[in-house]
Amino acid sequence: MKHTLNLTGRNVFDLDDYSVEEIEKIFETAKVMKEINSREYKKIPTLRGKTVATLFFEDSTRTRISFELAVKRLSADVVSFTSAGSAMKKGEGIQDTVYTLNAMGIDLYVVRHSCPGVPQLVNKYSNKPVINAGDGRHAHPTQALLDMFSIWEKTGSLKGLKIAIVGDILHSRVVRSNLIGMKKMGADVVVCGPRTLMPPKIEEVYGVQCEYDLKVAIKDADVVMGLRMQLERQNEGLFPGLGEYTSRYGLSNKMLEFAKDDVLIMHPGPMNRGVEILPEVADSEHSIIIEQVTNGVAVRMALLFLILGGKPGREVA
Ligand code: CP
Repeated sequence: MKHTLNLTGRNVFDLDDYSVEEIEKIFETAKVMKEINSREYKKIPTLRGKTVATLFFEDSTRTRISFELAVKRLSADVVSFTSAGSAMKKGEGIQDTVYTLNAMGIDLYVVRHSCPGVPQLVNKYSNKPVINAGDGRHAHPTQALLDMFSIWEKTGSLKGLKIAIVGDILHSRVVRSNLIGMKKMGADVVVCGPRTLMPPKIEEVYGVQCEYDLKVAIKDADVVMGLRMQLERQNEGLFPGLGEYTSRYGLSNKMLEFAKDDVLIMHPGPMNRGVEILPEVADSEHSIIIEQVTNGVAVRMALLFLILGGKPGREVA
């Protein structure tokens, strides 16, 4: 399906701002970007002269590097700001940091911060489009878009698929954005984890099924997504110990016998191998975990292209 929707100048705070048609347009554009990334010369001139700033106030490997690669592959310039080593160490706050960067001609900001709402603040102070690269426990919309794109390109649609998301649902911003997006795209989503790691009323809030027994959750699932067990949680009395957690909620070959034969295994990363997912599953033929990372570059290229007004015909013809 061809879309003529215009996403120029839009923010990406979370997926509740985006319609099904807009998400499909992002997927279709990402498919073209993925083809470009498979070429020997992975660079197109469409955003030449634009400048993107990545503002990472929190650690990242996948998101930061994939955004920076995405900017470079579209021929825009990228400046990478991290609070370590910046004037923030001398007391400068977010407002003056953004005023300073804006004065140098930034066209779009990519923001990660441990506090929810910082992407909106950066938008307020800069008056430039902002893409949320993860804010606290709130949202991680580009991770959800790349997760959904990874399923969409294998299956053609998320409609009617059973997707089980397993692990620390309570603390996960990836889950929150995925629940909004996957429900919007018509998937049947089941969340599963210990009761102590499950937000109250999640069924009512997101319209999902909630299970505490992994076998029930993944029965006949088309997709199973594991979530990182944040190791600091074991000191918070939320579950007896990592061994107990792995035996009940770890993704193993034995557990996956309950899912469909052609189940897709996903994980947003970073993974704790041997905790929430065993290597026999992470490295199996069902796993698309590495492909998710590859798709992250294409999806972020698509967003930058659409938001900064890249011209079809200059590259995506
Ligand atoms: N999935 C994810 O956000 O990974 P990083 O923290 O490495 O960016």
